[in-house]
Amino acid sequence: MDIAVIGSNNTDLTTYITRMPIEGETIEAPDFVIGFGGKGSNQAVAASRLGSEILMLTCVGDDDFGRMYLRNYVDNGISTDHVKQVSGTSGVAPIFVDPESHNRIIIVKGANNGLLPEDVEAVADVIADCSLIVCQLEIRMETTEAAILLGERLGIPVLLNPAPASPELKLELASKCRYFMPNESELALLTGMPTDTDDQVCEAAKILLDAGCEHVIVTLGARGVLWLSNWGDKLKIEPVNVSPVDTTGAGDAFIGCFADSVVRGLGVADAIRRANAYAALSVTRRGTQSSYPDLAAFSNWLGEGEGADASV
Ligand code: RIB
Repeated sequence: MDIAVIGSNNTDLTTYITRMPIEGETIEAPDFVIGFGGKGSNQAVAASRLGSEILMLTCVGDDDFGRMYLRNYVDNGISTDHVKQVSGTSGVAPIFVDPESHNRIIIVKGANNGLLPEDVEAVADVIADCSLIVCQLEIRMETTEAAILLGERLGIPVLLNPAPASPELKLELASKCRYFMPNESELALLTGMPTDTDDQVCEAAKILLDAGCEHVIVTLGARGVLWLSNWGDKLKIEPVNVSPVDTTGAGDAFIGCFADSVVRGLGVADAIRRANAYAALSVTRRGTQSSYPDLAAFSNWLGEGEGADASV
């Protein structure tokens, strides 16, 4: 296995709206789509479509959403051997996407809360064969902590995407991760520092570097990506110019492609450039996993058309 992803799955219930209703108001929306999402599984599916072999450790419910999700892993070349099933409802995410392609997301964790620290320990011998562990914060904090500590014990690098932002995440735990990959608001919450400008982002990132992270890679949405390492690397990568239709899951596309790139042996700067291009392509399509291209489609886009300017 290349990458162990220890994280969530949600069924995304996406409504494309013209505007949000005000209190007490009922309005009509033009479109609605059910899709596969959840930050952990999104990252796993992106990396799998790009060719990485994935160990997916997650938990679904015993409902139709859970059963459909098991099929989705198989369809994406991901084994369900380590997908736990508990009684109750699977994770869901009502999502609202506005005409400017911005999204608002609510998560109901459901069965994701059923993934426990002992489930991580139970597959430690399989995780030991992986080159990278990828975590987010959409499952119990103690389970993510068990995954990070297992990585430390086995000497396997850990990539932590601290999303959704959580005050429960402690700097001491985050600093055990080789790759810490927040957006600017997640970085602000963890460090207590402002992150409105690039200089402020750099100051906040230094707290993580000083604490022990090797690489802090901050996604800044329309402002691009900032990378700082504790060897003195500092790089700003500008966003790729595309016409977005739905930005949901773009951050997960970025992480999944970055993880795939690192296990393929790319250096961090090249991995960021490639992930930046992959995320840009994803926002030109609707949905989360439904917007992630496979390796052939991505390579084709990079070689021709708009993606040819992506400087990967
Ligand atoms: O990052 C996007 C994801 O956030 C969606 O797929 C939704 O399920 C929530 O987890």
